Amino acid sequence: MAEATRRLFLALWPGEAVAERLFAVSADAWRVCGGRRMRRETLHLTLAFLGEVAEGRLPELRAALAPVRGEAFRLTIDRLGYWPHNRIVWGGCPATPPALARLVADLRAVLAAAGFLPGTGAAGLVPPFVPHLTLLRKAAPAAALPDCPPIDWPVAEWVLVASALSSAGPAYTRLGVWPLE
Ligand code: 2AM
Repeated sequence: MAEATRRLFLALWPGEAVAERLFAVSADAWRVCGGRRMRRETLHLTLAFLGEVAEGRLPELRAALAPVRGEAFRLTIDRLGYWPHNRIVWGGCPATPPALARLVADLRAVLAAAGFLPGTGAAGLVPPFVPHLTLLRKAAPAAALPDCPPIDWPVAEWVLVASALSSAGPAYTRLGVWPLE
């Protein structure tokens, strides 16, 4: 029998107050774009997408991630964007803070070295990192996206998450959390 797998990714997960503010912005965006709103408790910013990983490899994955150290930083989410290719409306920041760029580069380097970072698409490449939180899926803007009031997000940890897909939307399970200092 084929070994069981989990669909994994690394992410920044906002606390309740920040998630609540992002969820309020997604309501404004939904009025203009329709689509499916991400539930408040599922809002996150993906750092690296691992895809399906055999459950038996989880200890190896944790060992690969253990040495990664990063600094705490602040993100300001102050803009909305729309990507026609996947029809998502997202919240983003004016620039990637250097501490975030370093964290992503370090995580992706250890994942790639340990064989946990699959490429996607025809060219089999790992997509470049564009920090964003998906707010709406299957969206279709009928007018300009609304303004996003600046949302200050102090980031002090990153998480390893498993996602299970279903018709009710994805269910996320947190498998690990690592602090930023
Ligand atoms: P998205 O929100 O931009 O769609 C869980 O599915 C998370 O992993 C989501 O944040 C999703 O990003 C991201 N994700 C899903 N499939 C991916 C892929 N093939 N490459 C990169 N990120 C992916």
